[in-house]
Amino acid sequence: MPPLTHSGVPRHVAIIMDGNGRWAGRRGLPRTLGHRKGVESVRRIVRHAGNRGVGVLTLYAFSRENWNRPKAEVSELMGLLQRYIRSDLEELVEQGVRVQVIGGRHDLNSTLLGMIENAEARTAHNDRMHLVLAFNYGGRDEIVRAARRAAEAVARGELAVEALDEARFAGFLDTGTLPDPDLVIRTSGEQRISNFLLWQSAYAEYSFPDALWPDFDEAMFDEALRDFAGRERRFGTVPPVTSVST
Ligand code: IPE
Ligand code: IPE
Ligand code: MG
Repeated sequence: MPPLTHSGVPRHVAIIMDGNGRWAGRRGLPRTLGHRKGVESVRRIVRHAGNRGVGVLTLYAFSRENWNRPKAEVSELMGLLQRYIRSDLEELVEQGVRVQVIGGRHDLNSTLLGMIENAEARTAHNDRMHLVLAFNYGGRDEIVRAARRAAEAVARGELAVEALDEARFAGFLDTGTLPDPDLVIRTSGEQRISNFLLWQSAYAEYSFPDALWPDFDEAMFDEALRDFAGRERRFGTVPPVTSVST
């Protein structure tokens, strides 16, 4: 296998952390324990991605559709984000990680909202790695909210309709000026995107490792990076000419 070279490391890696429920189910444990175990993978991968030189790491932690899960599981997942921020914020500050949460904020309770705002403010000037947590996130919802913001800007007379192009529109998304994901990883072997970063992933490369999220480790992350480094991204162009025969 080719070695990992710094230059081949994707600028933005986004992960759909899937398989917590199955991890627990296979052990005869309640699903909530799978989610708790999944937080250990979050810690591992955040540290490791920073060490590998990844600039932006986005983790899909709770989708808009996840509200349809049993009430007890939903409150476990809400509580887990609070506990994660409470227990890990200091380490994230020390690691130079900037924290940002994307997704709808209206449905979140005020305690959680306060913690999110505090975490974002405390880490706003960190620049070693940008950690984006997609929470209460849905790609379509984000696009609709962005469309509303754009319409409001037009209504206020701050934006001419003709001036709204792809770059301007992207600026209204929750991800704002962040670079698009280069690599999207979904664990647990499922091969779907489940409403994740629909706009931003237009040209992402995908990786679908079989490991369930609580089992996902540094070596598996490196394997996805290695695989990514071997991909040829074309963005609609033709491949470069490598040799000229005369
Ligand atoms: C991913 O694991 C975590 C969230 C969606 C919050 P799941 O809970 O979806 O686990 P599976 O897919 O049921 O195994
Ligand atoms: C996607 O996983 C959402 C998160 C990882 C937070 P799901 O497990 O909810 O997705 P589906 O329902 O299998 O598509
Ligand atoms: Mg799942």
